Amino acid sequence: MKLFDVYPLFDINIVKGRGCHVWDEQGTEYLDLYGGHAVISIGHSHPHYVEMISKQVAQLGFYSNSVINKLQQQLAERLGHACGYEDYALFLINSGAEANENALKLASFQNGRTRVVSFGKAFHGRTSLAVEVTDNPKIIAPINDNKHTTYLPLNDTEAMQAELRKGDVCAVIIEGIQGIGGIRVPDPSFMQALREECTRTGTILILDEIQSGYGRSGRFFAHQWTDIRPDLITVAKGIGNGFPMGALLVSPMFTPVYGQLGTTFGGNHLACAAALAVLDVIEGEGLIENAARVGAHLLEELKKLPQIKEVRGRGLMIGVEFEQPIKELRSRLLHEQKVFTGVSGTNVIRLLPPLCLTMDEADTFLERFAKVL
Ligand SMILES: Cc1ncc(COP(=O)(O)O)c(C=O)c1O
Repeated sequence: MKLFDVYPLFDINIVKGRGCHVWDEQGTEYLDLYGGHAVISIGHSHPHYVEMISKQVAQLGFYSNSVINKLQQQLAERLGHACGYEDYALFLINSGAEANENALKLASFQNGRTRVVSFGKAFHGRTSLAVEVTDNPKIIAPINDNKHTTYLPLNDTEAMQAELRKGDVCAVIIEGIQGIGGIRVPDPSFMQALREECTRTGTILILDEIQSGYGRSGRFFAHQWTDIRPDLITVAKGIGNGFPMGALLVSPMFTPVYGQLGTTFGGNHLACAAALAVLDVIEGEGLIENAARVGAHLLEELKKLPQIKEVRGRGLMIGVEFEQPIKELRSRLLHEQKVFTGVSGTNVIRLLPPLCLTMDEADTFLERFAKVL
């Protein structure tokens, strides 16, 4: 059997990682400004993470959600404290799309409605509801095209109010900072108006913090820059530092119902050990403060470089937009300068490094980036 060929691949086999560096099978070292697609939060192969996962798998890797799992309870307590949502409840799943899927289901169970408002360039995942609220017709299969979604321009307060005032919208789903859409930051005034309008019209506000959350923006969640509290928050990527995991944070307005949501693998012992190790390191090493500090430095320095149209973002979630396509520039950055970066569309380079990126590593990146401009 061969692999089902859906990924355009770089011809590089990464076999080892440490902190913000990875190595291929020839031993060539790369600086990782991509974090395996914003997944690596505490750095590759952090010793505490390796130890916690190794000990847990030797003890018990998995049982099932039909018995008490004290690691889940510990995680709920620790996460609530770390992110400032101690009064919310935690539901654990395995991926970002699955988190959004469950958020949309829970919203619809709550108010009985079926319409969803999403925003231009939004990405929320590839499963049925998650892909239906994603603004990319190329990945919506006919079976997913169920006309539940109205897409509005991001930051257009009037359009948002007009749509919600129809009174039949189940939920609004919005990224804390748009990732795949090109690192687009929602205006705080728009987010505050959105919060007010959702409350007034009985619409559930879902914040997708799958890429922008877990400290990446320099706060635990990117929406915390805007002083609002959503009804549902979805997370994945950084929560497990590469261990496949997702989570839904549920406001006290929702009452749990036995059997309404569920999963076989979600919140298993091994995943919880990974997530607890991640929180230990984020807190112990001050990684959110580091993301804010190193990110601010990168943003400031990138703005001084020539040929760049716009630099956007917060913390270690940065988009660098060029007038011209960046395919060749990104390829030179990888092959000549040994730096991994992400992309958005044809003209935007995305920087999503591990949150432990040091000032020296940021400066090394800036030097190498300047060489390919
Ligand atoms: C904002 C956002 N939401 C949802 C997802 C989907 O997550 P997953 O690939 O884990 O299903 C992604 C993945 O890139 C994302 O960036």
